Amino acid sequence: MDAIENTAGSVPHDETDAPLYRDPRAPVAARVEDLLARMSLDDKIGQMTQAERLEATPEDVTAHRLGSVLSGGGSVPSPNDPVTWADMYDDFQRAALATPLGIPILYGVDAVHGHGNVVGATLFPHNIGLGATRDPALVRDIGAVVAEEVSGTGITWNFAPCLGVVRNPRWGRTYESFGELPELPTAMTSFISGLQGPRVGPRPSVMATAKHFVGDGGTKDGDDQGDTRLAEEELRALHLPPFLAALERGVGSVMISHSSWNGLRLHGHRYLVTEVLKEELGFSGIVVSDWNGLDMIYEADAFGPAEVRAAVNAGIDMVMVPEEWRRFIETLRAEVLAGRVPAARIDDANRRILTRKFEQGLFEHPLTDRAYTGRIGGAEHRALARRAVAASLVVLKNEGGLLPLAPGIDEIFVAGRSAHDIGMQCGGWTVSWQGEPGPVTVGTTILDGIRAAAGPGTTVRYHPDGHGAGPSCKVAVAVVGEEPYAEDEGDRPAGMGLDPVDLDTIARLRAAGVPVVVLLVSGRPLDIAAELPGWDALVACWLPGTEGRGVADVLFGAAAATGRLPVTWMRSADQLPITHGDGQDPLFPYGFGLTYPARP
Ligand code: GLC
Repeated sequence: MDAIENTAGSVPHDETDAPLYRDPRAPVAARVEDLLARMSLDDKIGQMTQAERLEATPEDVTAHRLGSVLSGGGSVPSPNDPVTWADMYDDFQRAALATPLGIPILYGVDAVHGHGNVVGATLFPHNIGLGATRDPALVRDIGAVVAEEVSGTGITWNFAPCLGVVRNPRWGRTYESFGELPELPTAMTSFISGLQGPRVGPRPSVMATAKHFVGDGGTKDGDDQGDTRLAEEELRALHLPPFLAALERGVGSVMISHSSWNGLRLHGHRYLVTEVLKEELGFSGIVVSDWNGLDMIYEADAFGPAEVRAAVNAGIDMVMVPEEWRRFIETLRAEVLAGRVPAARIDDANRRILTRKFEQGLFEHPLTDRAYTGRIGGAEHRALARRAVAASLVVLKNEGGLLPLAPGIDEIFVAGRSAHDIGMQCGGWTVSWQGEPGPVTVGTTILDGIRAAAGPGTTVRYHPDGHGAGPSCKVAVAVVGEEPYAEDEGDRPAGMGLDPVDLDTIARLRAAGVPVVVLLVSGRPLDIAAELPGWDALVACWLPGTEGRGVADVLFGAAAATGRLPVTWMRSADQLPITHGDGQDPLFPYGFGLTYPARP
């Protein structure tokens, strides 16, 4: 059988043999060309369309030949457990295989600190805490565990890591950043190597997404989806390095930022997306838009032909149109037929998408490998997460060497909204998009950890508000901070101080006349300088995830205190933005952290 000529519209193939694109021994590039030559315009436009699982049925996937489906934050099957996830994935995948060409889908999800949508998954510290570890090898190992747990639900595309360089902690996505200088996000692209392995490949390799290209963390006033006003030289120096590192690691996809650069939305920015990312930097993977990112290109309420044309011609290959995917397909078809979107651009997008699907072995192994399903939330994974929690803590104050707490201390009083609340300690992107307080998933709270770590001779008393703390206790621990949030709902344009409820709790503990240790569970530095003199110790715990025991490990010295600030800590919110080297006088500088060794 002669190989199909690698040109569009090649002669019909002798169907007695399997088509070339179905031959796993053939080079990926040849399989792509063979398949592309068989695809209609509708096939190709379908491949570029990513719909939300709640807005498209498996039958829609078949009928419209959709290339991708996603679960947005909190878009979960019921019951929300790994097996049901895997069954859901397989249903969508079987529907894709029922199309004439049988092109499997890519299913995408935000496993940004572990497979957060899935109850029972192992959840790690959010990126700001991982930045504090300054341990790329640890972050790589985390990526590998996340890959196993995501693979256990069938899914092969993770919209992570966020490589934003946070320049103002008012930004609601501060905790999704590894740090305020490019060096930490650049180093922590090791997550990509853990998640994908040496390259995008078959499960448990999961395709990573470097996001959000470019400058998402540099917007004015930390306004999420706002405007990053920088000269090109500064944009390249501050925000581009992590993406260069991601490309060097073979990242399979790049997600475009909702934000703007000097007033122009990234989703329509052909210079940055095509001329810089694809041509100058040579990115050959998939460029995916963000959630309804087309709508905002011209500040309209919803996309129209102009936005579709602008986004696809800018270089976006896969369009995340969760609800309006039918209208997107119609609009893009019309733009192509009118000659306003070149067929070559459609083919380029399809080559990128199909290449990743062949590399992932999805044509040969489209369905979930259930061997990984049972590994979700396993003890080994949780042990790694616990180690990561300990490494992420930053001790900012430690009067008289109060920490680590002495073994055999006879009474400890624990208080605070975040002491015994797994939802608070996990933060956003946890079972729901915004996250929420309460027993939302499986793990150990910080109080669980303290109770487990305290010796048999130690009485651990607890009241969320601190009522009952008295002179009988030798030390009081206040676990306080921020309620969960995500994205723009976490922006803090006004005050950056502690919640009054938390301040009251700490006051009650101080009234007991005993040393007070404050454990801050927050997604960013907070304005606490005024209160700090009344605290004997302060530890930034960030958003530790499901393994609260890792906090107690440092508190009691089972683990060393080694973490260092990945962001500058303001002396006052009036200083914001405040960053390393800007000449201001912070409360704690970037890189600061008191350390102590683990107890023998
Ligand atoms: C959100 C976020 C992006 C995420 C996407 C899909 O709006 O900006 O980080 O990957 O939608 O959930």
